[in-house]
This record gives sequence, structure tokens and C-alpha cells, in this order.
Amino acid sequence: MNSKPYLIESLIGLGATMIIAAALGLYMLNEPARITQAQTDVLNLQLDEAMTLYAENCAVCHGLNGEGISSVPALSAPALKTMPFEELQKTIARGRYQTAMPAWSMQDGGALSAYQIDELVLLVQYGDWNKTGDRVINLGLAPLVPFITDPDPALLAEIAKLPDGATLQTAVRIFAGTCVACHGADGVGTSIAPALNDLDTREKLPEDLTRTITYGNTGTLMAGWGNTLQPEEISALVTMIKRWEEIPAGTIPAPNIPIPTTQESIALGSQLFAANCSRCHGPEGQGTPRAPSLNVKSFFVDKSDQTIQQIITNGVPGTAMPTWGDRMSEVQIQAIVGFIRQWEATAPEVATITRGGGGPPWKRNNTNTNTSLFGLLPSTNTTTYTATGQTGIQQALDWRTLVLAGIILTIAFTLISSGFSALKKQKK
Ligand code: HEC
Ligand code: HEC
Ligand code: HEC
Repeated sequence: MNSKPYLIESLIGLGATMIIAAALGLYMLNEPARITQAQTDVLNLQLDEAMTLYAENCAVCHGLNGEGISSVPALSAPALKTMPFEELQKTIARGRYQTAMPAWSMQDGGALSAYQIDELVLLVQYGDWNKTGDRVINLGLAPLVPFITDPDPALLAEIAKLPDGATLQTAVRIFAGTCVACHGADGVGTSIAPALNDLDTREKLPEDLTRTITYGNTGTLMAGWGNTLQPEEISALVTMIKRWEEIPAGTIPAPNIPIPTTQESIALGSQLFAANCSRCHGPEGQGTPRAPSLNVKSFFVDKSDQTIQQIITNGVPGTAMPTWGDRMSEVQIQAIVGFIRQWEATAPEVATITRGGGGPPWKRNNTNTNTSLFGLLPSTNTTTYTATGQTGIQQALDWRTLVLAGIILTIAFTLISSGFSALKKQKK
């Protein structure tokens, strides 16, 4: 009588132990995969943050895709991938003495923490430069390459007639060759550097302007030019800044560089156009009685992306064309310009304007092929940083653990149920 409950109890106990063992086994089998997955997730997060840091701090000199600009070296170079981690860390943290490469670590007056610098090293060694380029564009921080513009010859000749005209001419040439990419055409400023032609800057003391240009402002993109420019050249730049109201607009023109686009920026532009512009310019930009056609060959002739951006930003005073600059960010306006520019290839010679609602349906079908095509194209953003073979290992794990768990659980339940049925029998 006494040995039977004992047998039942031990059957149930054995079953329970096996369930625990199975759970433990499952957990241990999955553990390495879980750790690898966690590490991959952290790396992806760091690379993601690094792409934004790169866009905000480095792209202006090292280029959209880390390809380097003029004398600034590429960061996508294979040699940097094998360079010791610490050496890259040191270069970014402390800068390179007597070059335009500034020090970025907070200890050296820079703007970045040690953790952020490590993230940038990871980007240089493991990052995806195409994805990084997309990030730079989507943040509206695509550098203006080439870095320089040519002063308008007629206006430059005008300047010679001003008092001390030769000095101003020198400054205009230097500005167009050195400063324009950051401080903008005619010194109007860009998303990365302030205007220099405004009253605020003009009213600064010459000593302060000289100091900023010579030594730079630590922790910002404004590098010191003391090593590159002669004191007379810096003094000419200061003179020009103080007297900028005398320099005719258009003397230092915007370079004619297409605004780069990504699938995201085109999609954003398309959405913003539909929401804000189509009611006047028509759904496909073909024009309505209220506003002219933008989707027509003549519109694109002679209009650089910068010009179109300027028209949208400032509106057309005295017409129904509103000023969008105070309602939309530069990124948004650039996205619209990129979207509009897509029409150029297929724009008709003569506009057929629509009356209100989007035109006849058969017309609506064959327009906008660009955007629908974009939806169909494989996304370039599918690259992930999953360690190679990871998914394969995980599939194998899943397959094996499932079989193992199945076997163990079957045995355990058989034991438990036979235990219970024995218990039932015994009660009878
Ligand atoms: C104002 C322009 C400028 C900016 C902004 C800038 N760099 Fe540089 N960088 C340079 C120049 C110029 C060099 C080359 C220095 C030299 O001649 O050794 C350089 C060199 C480097 C190098 C060494 C490359 C090599 O081949 O040895 C690294 C790495 C680097 N920069 C990373 C960065 C990172 C990361 C950022 C953003 C946080 C950044 N740089 C921002 C101008 C810049
Ligand atoms: C790589 C981008 C970049 C380049 C190139 C550049 N600057 Fe700057 N500059 C900046 C930034 C960013 C600031 C704002 C710094 C700050 O926030 O303190 C600035 C600030 C200034 C200021 C101070 C403005 C003020 O209101 O106090 C002056 C003056 C100036 N830059 C002149 C120049 C001149 C002249 C050149 C060409 C020789 C030049 N910069 C080239 C990015 C740049
Ligand atoms: C309330 C109606 C209205 C809206 C909304 C509107 N526009 Fe316009 N737009 C006009 C009119 C009218 C003109 C023609 C101005 C003129 O006579 O030069 C114009 C002109 C333009 C031009 C210059 C065309 C040329 O041939 O030089 C561009 C570019 C443009 N608009 C873009 C846009 C964009 C982009 C949006 C949306 C963000 C927009 N517009 C929204 C009414 C509008």
C-alpha cells in the first residue's frame, strides 16, 4: 500500500523536473543567439546615432557619403577600417594640429562626448556610407559641393569703383572660394552657419570678427583660418563684413548644384506638394487658372534648384504665391524642390492647365509615374547590420529546440499522466 503513492509521486516529480530541464535547456540554447542579437541591436543603435552626428558635424567637410571634399580626406577609405580604434578616436577627439580638422572632444573644447566619438569611430569602421548619405540629405545637411562659387564678373567690376574697392574685391574672391559653402551666397547664411551680411554681424567690433576668423569658434564648425589666410586677407574679410550693405546682391551667387534627393525626401515632397501647392498649381503641377504650370519645359529652363528654393521660400510678392519660408523648414522646401525637379524629364513643351479637380481620370493615370515607380523600386534602406549568418543560426536553433522541446515535453506529460492515472486507480 505504501510503495504505490511513492511511485506516483516520483513519476510526477520526475515529470516536473523534466519540464524544468526542458525550459532551462531551451533558455541555454537560445542564450548565445540572444546575446548576439542584443549586441547587434546596440551596434545598430550606435551606428544610427553616429549617422546623425556625422550629418550634423562632419558631412560639411568630409562629404555626403564620407567621400571627402577637395583636400579633406575621405572617411570611407578602406585604410581607415583597419586603423587601430584608439588612433581614430584620438584623431577625432583632438583634431589634427595645423589643419582644418578641429578637435571634437569636450576636453579639447569640442562639442562631442567620448561616447559620441566612439560611435563615430564605429561608423568609420562598420558604417554604411550610402545610408549615411541618405541621413545627411533627409536632415537637409547635404554639403554644397563644389565648395566654391565664381563671383559675378560685372558686379565684381562695379565694386572696384567703391572706396577701397580693391580690398573689397579681394574679400569677395576669398569669401566665394572659402566661406560661401557654409555662410551662403551673398553671406545670407545656410542651415549650418549664420548670415554674415546682416546688421547684427556688421555691428560687431572689428577685433571680434578678426578673432573669430583667425582662431575660429571652438566647438563649432567655424574653424580658425589663421594658418590658411594672410592677416591682410582676414582684415579684408572683416572690412567687407562691416560694409556688406554696399556689395550688390548677386555678387557671390549660389552655385548651381542639384539638391540631392532620397526616396524619403521625394515622398515627403510629394506629400507636401499635394497638401499645400496642388490647389493652385494642380495635382501634377500642370497649372490651374489660379497659378502657372510648374510641370512644363519652359519652367525648368535656366532655373537652378537654388532658384526654385528661393522662389518657394520668399514667395512672389504682390501675387497669390505665398511666402513658404516662415511656414516650412528648409528641409521641407528642399524636399518639394526635389519632387518638382523629377518632372523635368517628362515635362511637356506646352502646359495643359486643369480646371480644379485633377483633370480627366485618364490623364491622372499616366502622370506621377515617377512616384509610383519609386514605390515599386527595391528600397536602398533595407541594409541591416545583423551579423552575417545570424538568421541562419537562429533558424537552425529554432528547428532543433522545437524538436528537443517536443520530445522532452512528450516524455514529461506521459510520465505525469501515467502518475495521475495511477493515483486515480489507487483512489478507486
Ligand atoms: C572644417 C572641416 C572638417 C570638419 C568639420 C571635420 N573634419 Fe575631419 N578632417 C578635416 C581635414 C582637413 C582632415 C585632414 C587632416 C590632415 O591633413 O591630417 C581631416 C581628417 C580626419 C580624419 C583622419 C583621416 C585620415 O585619413 O587620417 C578623421 C578620422 C576625421 N577627420 C574625422 C572627422 C569626424 C568624425 C568629423 C565630425 C565629427 C570631422 N572629421 C569633421 C577637416 C574636417
Ligand atoms: C565649415 C563651415 C564654415 C566655414 C567654411 C566658415 N565658417 Fe564662419 N562660421 C561657421 C559657423 C557654424 C559659425 C557660428 C559659430 C558659432 O556658433 O559660434 C561661424 C561664425 C562666423 C563668424 C562669426 C559670426 C558672428 O555673428 O559672430 C564670422 C565672422 C565668420 N564665421 C566668418 C567666416 C569667414 C570669413 C569664413 C571664410 C574664410 C568662414 N567663416 C568660413 C561655419 C563656417
Ligand atoms: C494661393 C495659390 C498658390 C499656392 C497655394 C501656391 N502657389 Fe506657387 N504661385 C502662385 C501664383 C499666382 C504664382 C505666379 C506668381 C507670378 O505671377 O509670378 C506662383 C508661382 C510659383 C512659382 C514660380 C513659377 C514660375 O514660373 O516662375 C513656383 C516655383 C511656385 N509657385 C511653387 C509653389 C509651391 C512649391 C507651392 C506649395 C508649397 C506653391 N507654389 C503654392 C500661387 C500659388
